[in-house]
Amino acid sequence: MSTHHLAADFKAGMRRLGAGVTIVTTFDGQSRAGLTATAVCSLSAEPPQLLVCVNRQAYPNKVIARAKRFCVNVLASGQKSLALRFAGATGHKGEDRFAKGRWNVLATGAPALDGALTSFDCELARAVRSGTHTIFIGRVVAVATRKGGKALLYADGGFAGVAPGPATKPAVKKTKK
Ligand SMILES: Cc1cc2nc3c(=O)[nH]c(=O)nc-3n(C[C@H](O)[C@H](O)[C@H](O)COP(=O)(O)O)c2cc1C
Repeated sequence: MSTHHLAADFKAGMRRLGAGVTIVTTFDGQSRAGLTATAVCSLSAEPPQLLVCVNRQAYPNKVIARAKRFCVNVLASGQKSLALRFAGATGHKGEDRFAKGRWNVLATGAPALDGALTSFDCELARAVRSGTHTIFIGRVVAVATRKGGKALLYADGGFAGVAPGPATKPAVKKTKK
């Protein structure tokens, strides 16, 4: 299989992997930058760390690299229009993207979105270049979590709101001693 075909198959396969939608923001002391991202993953709880994969062509990439801080805002189902705005679908760039939504700061000064399900405020611990992307590893220094709310998910090229279902505790088998 050619590399071209493999890349296309990879992209088509990854579209099937549903994911929570976030807006990753940063502030370099001059201006704010942000992008919609689903390539976000928990890394460790002790210390609390997460990672975000950002295309090196994306404007926020270089701002995160120099600001050395970022905030991951986990979107609620009513925030789809912000997800589109921060994905570039409305033609807004850089600071202009922040004209919609209400923005605060937590500890680092990176923008935290009012009404997000959770905001993880991070100091940049490490940046690892790989292929077209940079993996930004963030050490979480503050968390703001809202009560309730449906998650915004992205799968198969579309958005959906998902409410928590009934109890999700895995069944534990009792073993005889
Ligand atoms: C649902 C969704 C998820 C996305 N996830 C990522 C991601 O994880 N990493 C990334 O670099 N770009 C991702 N993008 C694309 C970026 O949001 C887009 O390229 C970004 O807005 C570019 O910023 P710029 O126009 O300021 O350069 C995603 C787009 C959408 C619609």
